[in-house]
Order: sequence, then structure tokens, then C-alpha cells
Amino acid sequence: MTLILGIETSCDETGVAVVENGTRLLSNVVASQVVLHAQYGGVFPEVASRAHVEAIVPVTQQAMDVAQVTLDDIDAIAVTRGPGLAGSLLVGVNFAKGLALGHGLPLVGVNHLEGHVYSLWLAETDTALQFPAVCLIVSGGHSEIVLIREHGDYTVVGSTIDDAAGEAFDKVARLLNLSYPGGPAIQHAADEGDPTTYAFPRALRGHGYNFSFSGLKTAVMRAVQPPHQGRRAPKSEGMTPEQLRPDVNVADVAASFQVAVVDVLVEKTIQAAATHNAAEIWMAGGVSANLLLREQMQEHSPLPVRYPPLALCVDNGAMIAAAGFFRYQQGYRDDLALDVRPMWPLVSIRDHMTKG
Ligand code: KG4
Ligand code: ZN
Repeated sequence: MTLILGIETSCDETGVAVVENGTRLLSNVVASQVVLHAQYGGVFPEVASRAHVEAIVPVTQQAMDVAQVTLDDIDAIAVTRGPGLAGSLLVGVNFAKGLALGHGLPLVGVNHLEGHVYSLWLAETDTALQFPAVCLIVSGGHSEIVLIREHGDYTVVGSTIDDAAGEAFDKVARLLNLSYPGGPAIQHAADEGDPTTYAFPRALRGHGYNFSFSGLKTAVMRAVQPPHQGRRAPKSEGMTPEQLRPDVNVADVAASFQVAVVDVLVEKTIQAAATHNAAEIWMAGGVSANLLLREQMQEHSPLPVRYPPLALCVDNGAMIAAAGFFRYQQGYRDDLALDVRPMWPLVSIRDHMTKG
């Protein structure tokens, strides 16, 4: 039995978890900063790192208490090294180094996107996950289609050329005066709406596996704002309420926007899976919580579709522990010189492996 302590601080959640053999959750504690950032309509980096500093010790203590373990029971410490906010990553990595040094434990740096993929290993399922898989990783910061041939073997076959899918949800939610984070708010609003009201663009459809969501965001802005405001960038709006055209039905806009995003995500993932002879389609990351995305992927995919338990779609320490376990098993170790990599792309483990 191998117990990994997983630590995640790349963005706005302080997450610590204890996972057994990469698949069994013993504890998973997440201190969310959503309330802190809601007033800005997005993550405020300095506020995030300060909140991680305050939360990391109590969250770790709680994760060990719930799992009923001490550091003596832990085999290795896995921590998110990147990508993410530099100041936030530093809090987790420095804390992990301190624990590793103080208790003589191996240290394993994990890619945050890889962490999202490994949240799938924490799902209770009757059938084992099959390689090769094509995984759609969609979060607030990333939209990637990744071919995964084996544990730790990643080839990115497509990614966004501008906004991430979750970022588009967050920005459009702001345009519609919906709450932050935007994904759940839009999904909820869309329940009451007619997705055929607006024919919003499906960018790069039929053109490879890259995504583009910024044109969609602009199309929504043009549809909802009074004409004289049409060209203002949503970012410049701060938290002042958006002026909407009087005839705008927010539910219809939300539903039409949501289906436009889902259509391209589903179409491109299924095409990529066919091209690369995948055995299964996986999805992970905050946006993989979206019910329409799950439904549509299931409906259109000829292959089995896997997604993480809802609670593990957004950032958490458990997924980092699970990914850390598989790295640890392959002999991957980091030393105390481990740095943070705010822009770290998802590369195969063998391409940056240091055996310990
Ligand atoms: O994976 P995550 O917690 O953080 C990053 O690594 O970025 O993803 C957060 C993103 C946010 O943009 C949020 O709006 C989106 O996931 N999200 C959703 C849903 N739940 C969260 N997007 C669409 N539908 C949802 N139900
Ligand atoms: Zn994430």
C-alpha cells in the first residue's frame, strides 16, 4: 500500500488530500477562495497567494485527520509544480519541500493538467480505464485535447488559440451579470433557456483540433449589450453591472452560448479520438462538470466516455496525489531544488524524468 499526500495551490483552491495507491480517496480537503475572488469576477493573484499561506497548514492537518494518518504513514509528497499562478504555486511547493525535508519523504512535482487527468482514476467504476485515450482537458485556464498512450505519455493534439473554455464561461457570465465562477451559473441559467435562440459561432469547426472562444464571447457581447457599448472589452468593466438590451432573455443567451461551446468540444474530441484510434474518450477539468457536455459527449461518441466524479472536476489535492502516485511508481523523484513552472506545458514524464 502506498499513501501519497497531494498538495494543490496553483490557482484559487487550497487542496490537500491523502490517496491510497493512486485510486482510493482517504481524504480530500479543499479551501475554496471563490468568495474572496467573486468581487473581482475572476482570480486576483496576490489575494490568492495570501489565502493559500493562511489555509495550507490547517487544510493539511484536516486532510491527515480525516484520513486518520500522520506523516509517518505517508510514502511521498506530491505537489503541483505548474502551470498556474507563480505566487500561488510557490506556497504549495515550498510547503511540500518543508514537509519532505523535515520528514525525509520523497517529493514528486506534478503537472496540474496531468492532475486533472488523474482525477479519473478516483472515479468508482466497474471497468478499468483503457489506453490509448483521448482526453479533453477543459478548465478555467486550459482547453486541450491530449492523446494519452500510457501512464505519463502525453501528446497534445489540440489547444485553444485564445481563451480557455472555462474562461469563456466566466467572461460571458460577467456580461450577463451572473455570479462567479461562471460555468455553474451559466449551466443553471441555461436550464430555463432555449439554446436555438441565437446562432452563436462555432469557431474552427472542421479545421483540426485547436479551439478559439474569443469570437464567441464577442458575439455574445454584441447580442446582449446596447449598440453604443458593443465594442467594449468585458475586462475593462470591473464589477459595475453590465447594461443589457431590454429585450435580452438571459436564459436564452446562456443556453445558446453553452451549446455553442459544447458543440465544438464534443465534435473535435470525437474526431481526435477517431484519428488517433483511441479506445476511450476521457474528459477532465472544471468544465467537465458541465452536464450538457457530459450528455452530448455520451450521446455522440461511439467509444466509452469517462469523466471524474463531480466533486473532483475543479481543483483539488486528490488528483495531484493520484497523478503523483503514478509518477512515483515509475521512479520519478524531484529534489529540494524543485522550482515552480507557471507556464509548464503537459509533456511526457520520460521527457523530464530524474530518477531518484
Ligand atoms: O479546473 P478548474 O477548477 O480550474 C482551473 O484549473 O482553471 O476549473 C475552473 C473552471 C471555471 O472557469 C468554471 O467556470 C468552470 O471550470 N466550470 C464550469 C462548470 N463548473 C465549473 N464550466 C461549465 N459548466 C460547469 N458546470
Ligand atoms: Zn485546474
